[in-house]
Amino acid sequence: MPIAEPTAEVTAVDAVDPALRRGLLTCWTDVTNAGGAVGFVPPVTEDDVAPVLDALIERVSQGRERLVVLWVDGEPAGWAVLSLSVSPLRRHWATVLRVQVHPARQGQGLGRALMTGVHDVARDCGLEMLHLTVRGGYGLEGFYAGLGYREFGRMPGAIRLAPGDDREEVHLVVRLRDPGQPSC
Ligand SMILES: CC(C)(COP(=O)(O)OP(=O)(O)OC[C@H]1O[C@@H](n2cnc3c(N)ncnc32)[C@H](O)[C@@H]1OP(=O)(O)O)[C@@H](O)C(=O)NCCC(=O)NCCS
Repeated sequence: MPIAEPTAEVTAVDAVDPALRRGLLTCWTDVTNAGGAVGFVPPVTEDDVAPVLDALIERVSQGRERLVVLWVDGEPAGWAVLSLSVSPLRRHWATVLRVQVHPARQGQGLGRALMTGVHDVARDCGLEMLHLTVRGGYGLEGFYAGLGYREFGRMPGAIRLAPGDDREEVHLVVRLRDPGQPSC
């Protein structure tokens, strides 16, 4: 009997229910503890991550950030957020934050699928460009280069992982569409 391939889809989510919150929390905690560069220094517990996640969910409910979820077989397997600017001069672009795929699902093309979905959501909002930063020394630039991002600068010492362990932050940008009217 043939084995069914997992089905993956990427959707924007406006309201986070308790089941999705649990999935996001597990993912963020596990990704961090596997060495992922998503805002924490490992090791972390779910108790460390929960208040930061809840603040994020609050910003999503206020429309300040857009949550984009990667679902595999109906379960959350990764996610990212689009952080929108409050400045009317910066409404045509957003910053992508917290890009992550659960460690059990990495290396299967799902990170690319997640980011392609993030780009679709951003285009649907009328966003023309996306900005994101990566920690230097993690080799992540190659992942984003494959999605069309180009580097435009590095801030030395921007990230302090521990006393005496400062890392540069690499700034990347991708252009998505021609100028138009933002709707998010
Ligand atoms: C970065 C991450 C989202 C990539 O997801 P993934 O599902 O493992 O990536 P994919 O399998 O879709 O890989 C897509 C392509 O990027 C490449 N790639 C993936 N991770 C890479 C890395 N760290 N460095 C360089 N290239 C990478 C893959 O080789 C693949 O290339 P190919 O198409 O030529 O074969 C995932 O590894 C992750 O969650 N990492 C931990 C969290 C993190 O550090 N996020 C970055 C925040 S800026």
